Amino acid sequence: MSEIKRDAFIDGRWVARDARFAVTDPFDDSEIAQVADADDAMVDAAVEAAARAFPAWKRRPAAERGRLLGQVAARMLADERRLADLCTRENGKPLKEAIAEVRYAASFLTWFGGEAERVYGETIPASNAAQRLTVIREAVGPVAVITPWNFPYAMLTRKLGAALAAGCTVVAKPAEATPLGTLALAELCEAVGIPAGVFNVVPSSHGGRIGGRLLAAKAIRKISFTGSTEVGQLIMRNAAADLKRVSLELGGNAPFLVLADADLDAAVAGALVAKFRNSGQTCVAANRFILEAPIAEAFTAKLSAAVAKLVVGRGSDPATDIGPVIDDAAVAKIKRLVEDGVSRGARVVFGAAPAGTSRLIAPVVLAGITPEMALWREEIFGPVIALRTAMDEADAIAQANDTEAGLVAYVYTRDGARQHRVAEALEAGMVGVNEGLVSTAQAPFGGIKHSGLGREGSRHGIDDYTNLKYIATRIG
Ligand code: SIN
Repeated sequence: MSEIKRDAFIDGRWVARDARFAVTDPFDDSEIAQVADADDAMVDAAVEAAARAFPAWKRRPAAERGRLLGQVAARMLADERRLADLCTRENGKPLKEAIAEVRYAASFLTWFGGEAERVYGETIPASNAAQRLTVIREAVGPVAVITPWNFPYAMLTRKLGAALAAGCTVVAKPAEATPLGTLALAELCEAVGIPAGVFNVVPSSHGGRIGGRLLAAKAIRKISFTGSTEVGQLIMRNAAADLKRVSLELGGNAPFLVLADADLDAAVAGALVAKFRNSGQTCVAANRFILEAPIAEAFTAKLSAAVAKLVVGRGSDPATDIGPVIDDAAVAKIKRLVEDGVSRGARVVFGAAPAGTSRLIAPVVLAGITPEMALWREEIFGPVIALRTAMDEADAIAQANDTEAGLVAYVYTRDGARQHRVAEALEAGMVGVNEGLVSTAQAPFGGIKHSGLGREGSRHGIDDYTNLKYIATRIG
């Protein structure tokens, strides 16, 4: 198995279409593959297949569903170098990060494969002696999953693993820039014997249209989406017409607090992970660094020295730490944010404001960020560090919460009481305390405010694919 899959995967079959779109390497725009551009009829066929497959898949013993997920995970790990190469090519991320992503993605299948057997119900003591009250959890039905380009495998498996474990069937619409990883996973699902129709993939260059078709499909009972807040809001509005369930993992604007008593070397190490993973293109990327005044200068110097060592280059080069950003629009956005900051008084303390049109953007550190700047308000999604000073803990918390987003926040402090106090005061679904990477299959990933609804990963992630059914039984 080495050929890149390029067709849609519907009802257990690879479905070609004359209309195709090019998937290209973000580094140099070289073409990797021409992929079938799914139309409405293909989406409808995928939805019908998922609906047909649902009753039998739901009835299948949870242990069997879990075992199949475990087998897909094992195949992913056995094939990790090929999958990672594919990811580096279509996404641009450094190979070492692509390998880490394959492992991270497989961990969701392993985790949810185990959790399938633990979708417990409950019994409730009844006030009426003639009744027995029980609650079971049932799969919500066929699910549409719409995934982003920044983690083509992991954002899929975080949804797919939970859905399949719960007994749901899936129609996946991968990002236009990175459909190949999803198709590679479909091939692995096929290889281990996941039944036809349980997992379907409709790649398309018309994401909005396909998303709309999935939202309009009566058989689809839930949409799970990772992407921008604007699109998430649109999905939620449209899902309302049919009262479909929604899980939305949306944009972030993460604060990264370094308080006066922090271990600065640990904070720098955490900052590098939180900022530069996937070249800064993660929803959990540290977006706003908030430094308590006494350590601001020392932290900036240490951070700049560490950033200076990062290697920018093609993802396939083993030395590369920062690969290309995904496309020209990403370059233009990063430039706009930096230019806006500099024009409003931000100081470049390391590197240089990006110039030109190259997708390889060298890291830049800017100090003196103020709330009016777009760098403070918007998700950067690139290798730019924005620093602001806070007078004290209260000021740092107020600055951190000055955003509509609420996905994740990071805080560095040695003081145990302060760790709890600040973590509780931060308005975010997740908090890293002396930790720059919170993502793991066992924990509930998700945000509050404009960062979304629902949780992925952990036992809560599987709950999001189930409905509670309460059964009252008269026994006398
Ligand atoms: C994301 O950027 O949306 C997810 C990153 C992660 O799972 O760590």
